Amino acid sequence: MPTETDGTESSGQGGAEGGAGAPSGHASWGATTSGTAETGYVPTTAGGGAGTSPGRRGSSRRPAAQADSELVREALQNAPVSRETSPATPVAEAARAALRATSGRGEQQWPAPPDCRVITIANQKGGVGKTTTSVNLAASLAMHGLQVLVVDLDPQGNASTALGIDHHADVPSIYDVLIEDRPLADIVVAAPDIPNLYCAPATLHLAGAEIELVSKVARESRLRRALDGYDKERFDYVLIDCPPSLGLLTVNALVGAEELLIPIQCEYYALEGLGQLLRTVDLVKSHLNPILEVTTILLTMYDARTRLAAQVADEVREHFGNVVLGTVIPRSVRVSEAPSYGQSVMTYDPGSSGALAYSEAASELAHRGAEESR
Ligand SMILES: Nc1ncnc2c1ncn2[C@@H]1O[C@H](COP(=O)(O)OP(=O)(O)OP(=O)(O)O)[C@@H](O)[C@H]1O
Ligand SMILES: [Mg+2]
Repeated sequence: MPTETDGTESSGQGGAEGGAGAPSGHASWGATTSGTAETGYVPTTAGGGAGTSPGRRGSSRRPAAQADSELVREALQNAPVSRETSPATPVAEAARAALRATSGRGEQQWPAPPDCRVITIANQKGGVGKTTTSVNLAASLAMHGLQVLVVDLDPQGNASTALGIDHHADVPSIYDVLIEDRPLADIVVAAPDIPNLYCAPATLHLAGAEIELVSKVARESRLRRALDGYDKERFDYVLIDCPPSLGLLTVNALVGAEELLIPIQCEYYALEGLGQLLRTVDLVKSHLNPILEVTTILLTMYDARTRLAAQVADEVREHFGNVVLGTVIPRSVRVSEAPSYGQSVMTYDPGSSGALAYSEAASELAHRGAEESR
């Protein structure tokens, strides 16, 4: 388990703070310079990293290679004050208190939707945070009293790994459900560590499923059939983590869900390929699943030190409006470390900026669902 506070996450990522680039009107972003250096996100731990070891703090200075990068130079020009010289001002304290109050709205339990919400998390672009989002939203929802199932539909099995679920070749998996008509109930297992959280794991066999599905009857609807034949109403949320493609596995996920959540990485090229995804959604809607809607977009890996991230975020908000969650997920070393411990960041380092942001995003998701159903 980690022992350092969130403030040390800046290590190796440069020390510049780019609060100027944070999206406006955003509850999770501090206007102060006392957030974490990596994110600009205001942490709940007092002192913006107080208690970090001097050695790490010293070593978090910009490495030469990064100082040479154009993005870092630009960020430095736009960073009037370094976090490392910022005192914990009353305003910063108030901002943290506000964040604590808004994070999960201070509730232990979030409202359950009237019916199970089946949400597919897809973007055919690789590495944009689909799995990280699936796992951490699921963990947050489960930690607030909701029953959650994660369906790992990616042959890489990253969601299974991150949830600490065994998924070697002999484990009954979603492959058996899609290809061998095995009931979903046979393969669902409880995640260790987090009550209320379950997983339908993926094994390497799933890599062959794209091809094997082609010759199957109702090849696009096999996941939906499996979900329909399962007592999914015992869950409040089913989150389906997709592979980075628009093949039959992703199509099965789109046919099996009512909602699509698209994670968008705050990087150049982020929007490329989105048109293709939306066209696929339209095709699925018109032929296979008329109730499918893009209900949620989540901006991931936001780096507050770059103008580029803010520009991408602005562009996405302009284009998609309210569908975009107010919460933005910052780049966070803790988020990327957690899977190697078979954990979500919610348990690996609950006070880290990444965990706080995912908790906030999950809270938004839960409350939006509850409000819409009223
Ligand atoms: N907020 C974040 N901060 C830092 N690293 C992150 C963050 N989110 C994701 N990552 C890292 O980025 C990489 C890609 O994330 P992830 O696996 O969630 O993307 P993906 O879209 O599921 O990828 P794939 O398309 O391969 O399935 C991983 O190494 C992950 O740990
Ligand atoms: Mg993935």
